[in-house]
Amino acid sequence: MAPVDVRVPGDKSITHRALILGSLAEGTSRLARPLDSGDTRSTAGALRGLGVDVSGLDRGHTVVRGAGLTGWRACRDALDCGNSGTTARLLLGALAGCPFESRLIGDPSLQRRPMRRVTEPLSEGGAVFEELAEPGRLPIRVRGRRPLRPLAHDGPRASAQVKTALLLAALTGQTSVRVSEPGLSRDHTERMLASMGAGVAVRSHHGRTDVSLDASPRLEPLDLAIPGDPSSAAFFLGLGALLGAVRALHVGLNPTRIGAVHVLARMGAAVRIEPTGEEAGEPVGDIIVGPGTLGGTIVDAAEVPALLDEIPLLAAVAAMADGETRFDGVAELRVKESDRVAALAANLRAVGVAAEDQGDRLVVGGTGGRLRGMVRSFDDHRIAMAFGVLAALPGNEIIVDGREAAGISYPGFWTELDRVTMELGAK
Ligand code: S3P
Repeated sequence: MAPVDVRVPGDKSITHRALILGSLAEGTSRLARPLDSGDTRSTAGALRGLGVDVSGLDRGHTVVRGAGLTGWRACRDALDCGNSGTTARLLLGALAGCPFESRLIGDPSLQRRPMRRVTEPLSEGGAVFEELAEPGRLPIRVRGRRPLRPLAHDGPRASAQVKTALLLAALTGQTSVRVSEPGLSRDHTERMLASMGAGVAVRSHHGRTDVSLDASPRLEPLDLAIPGDPSSAAFFLGLGALLGAVRALHVGLNPTRIGAVHVLARMGAAVRIEPTGEEAGEPVGDIIVGPGTLGGTIVDAAEVPALLDEIPLLAAVAAMADGETRFDGVAELRVKESDRVAALAANLRAVGVAAEDQGDRLVVGGTGGRLRGMVRSFDDHRIAMAFGVLAALPGNEIIVDGREAAGISYPGFWTELDRVTMELGAK
């Protein structure tokens, strides 16, 4: 049977970066198919507050009139990052190199998330961060400095947000930077900068990756069609593994993002990746996933950076497989939009799955069977959507409380899930 086709919205990480880097370019950037969601609206809104002309995200294309590396202006009001950790951390970086005061705020979930992973290395350059409520949390007042002193950071874990914050600080603060991390976090910033004429040097050695950038004079504007988000596609590909073949069309195939697809293949799903081209240095193509006899697996800590945001979906698939699945090195998930390790374990148990929260490890006992019960989203988009996939399977009777959280990264998810499930003949 032909697979059911899905076109998911634009990549969230790439949209954030295109908006921010476009605003720092000289000239007008044109972005086709940007993600229009809660998180990316937070970034666009903050940039408008800083005096940048950014058109709406809701018309399928967005125009950003670049202000240049030194063109942002102080905003009297607080910059509201909403639920978006990426907005907060990337802006903290870029504002560290802007010689004025800014105040960043966020929603209750974002106010619980750690910010010192960016503010500490940025302070070394001479920016000053004042924590206005809880230690290490938003709201934070930034006093930027230009030029910043040269930045250097050896990160204890791979983090694309930390890496990008430092690169942005070097750009606005007119200095050089070197960031070293274990493994390799998503590298969209490096690829986009290269496409804008600011080459980033990347060097791998002894399991670490070093990224460095010299003070760059200017960025060329972007003309970019944003590929579909593989993290959004993952929910439908998980459904493909469990119910009937699904093809995600025109999604990003950046290897730092598609680790979950390889895990689905290892669990026994039928997986095909069909590259079709490239967009601003990003490989793009179709991913097809169909059912197979699914068994448990071990997801190693070294694999986590390439599937960081897909663990909720993989844990949901693991619940329907035969045998146990273990996710190692997942402590970082405790400081995402929710404590995802605790949320997954609690929800899985609520629907009759054996699941253990072991600190840095999540263990899911496969049932292969019927699941029933009520789960909560914990206001976390990816928790809501992962359990949405389980709820869509015939035989399962699951109610997801707090479904609206999906709008943070995927407005329209529930309608699309209904359509795909129906076309797969399950309803
Ligand atoms: C993101 C990086 C990841 C990811 C987040 C988006 C980004 O976090 O979890 O959803 O766009 O840079 P890390 O900073 O932990 O890599």
